[in-house]
Amino acid sequence: MSHMNGKTVIITGANSGIGKETALALGKKGAKVVLVCRNKERGEKALAELSAAVPGKFDLLLADIGSLSEVKKLAEKIKSQYPKIDVLLHNAGVFYQTHTLSPDKIEMTLAVNHVGVFHLTNLLLDTLKQSAPSRIVIVSSALHKKGKGVMMKEGMMYNPMKAYNESKLLNLLFMRVLSKKLAGSNVTINCVHPGVVATNIGSANTGLLFRLGAKIISPFLLTPEKGALTSIKVASDPALEKVTDKYFEKEDIAKYNRLADDEKLAQDMWAMTEKLIAAQT
Ligand SMILES: NC(=O)c1ccc[n+]([C@@H]2O[C@H](COP(=O)([O-])OP(=O)(O)OC[C@H]3O[C@@H](n4cnc5c(N)ncnc54)[C@H](OP(=O)(O)O)[C@@H]3O)[C@@H](O)[C@H]2O)c1
Repeated sequence: MSHMNGKTVIITGANSGIGKETALALGKKGAKVVLVCRNKERGEKALAELSAAVPGKFDLLLADIGSLSEVKKLAEKIKSQYPKIDVLLHNAGVFYQTHTLSPDKIEMTLAVNHVGVFHLTNLLLDTLKQSAPSRIVIVSSALHKKGKGVMMKEGMMYNPMKAYNESKLLNLLFMRVLSKKLAGSNVTINCVHPGVVATNIGSANTGLLFRLGAKIISPFLLTPEKGALTSIKVASDPALEKVTDKYFEKEDIAKYNRLADDEKLAQDMWAMTEKLIAAQT
């Protein structure tokens, strides 16, 4: 009998790429896996495919993680349908070539990759604490190491790569602050880098050149199945039950950008994110 039997995993962005493979593996390990997808058609297709592979293990909830009101409704639905959450796995992520605003007028990379993660986690925190031992896993990226901690500064020219890198550094800053708030709760929080993986990321929001480049290098990239390995391990390995506040690469603890240890940056991140959320809710 697998140690994931009877456990509930909530995973965002589960209809493609790394998220879909992670969901499949956790379902195979015996968990009930709740797929959070933004598009009904793509979500239902993934639900059908995953359920055909492992019957009875998957549910689907629809929500746009880039919309604060949808995240709030999602959290309410999760709380009413799943009284126990063993793993909250933030996998949904975006790369936008051009400056695009979320329904709440927040730049989209920031909205999906950080603000949605922050909001959903905080809305589910009581349930996660009641479900302890439980885990929060954030799919960040090694590109967070290129982040400079400037995402929150106003008046910056939009640069897609910088926006992505900064959003992924914010994941680390969030982990560092929340892990301290969660001390003694038996709720862990960790970040992972999946590797460089051939997926759909950016394909809908980038120009021809980016897409061509991605196609050319795709044979040299990891498959989504391999790219899911670190998320799967951090979400489910019993040996990691008490491991928290760590960044993982290649299924192992790795070094992260030391800016994530900057107290002032962490305080600014928390205050600015709360302000963005309060302005809309
Ligand atoms: N691929 C890499 O090399 C790599 C490297 C480092 C980190 N990552 C991270 O890995 C994670 C998974 O990405 P991937 O590479 O597997 O790309 P992907 O195939 O594009 O998967 C991303 C998933 O997130 C979903 N999503 C995007 N915006 C959303 C929103 N607003 N609300 C809900 N779901 C949303 C997408 O749904 P749709 O299908 O509807 O768009 C899709 O299911 C991301 O966080 C990414 O930043 C990837």
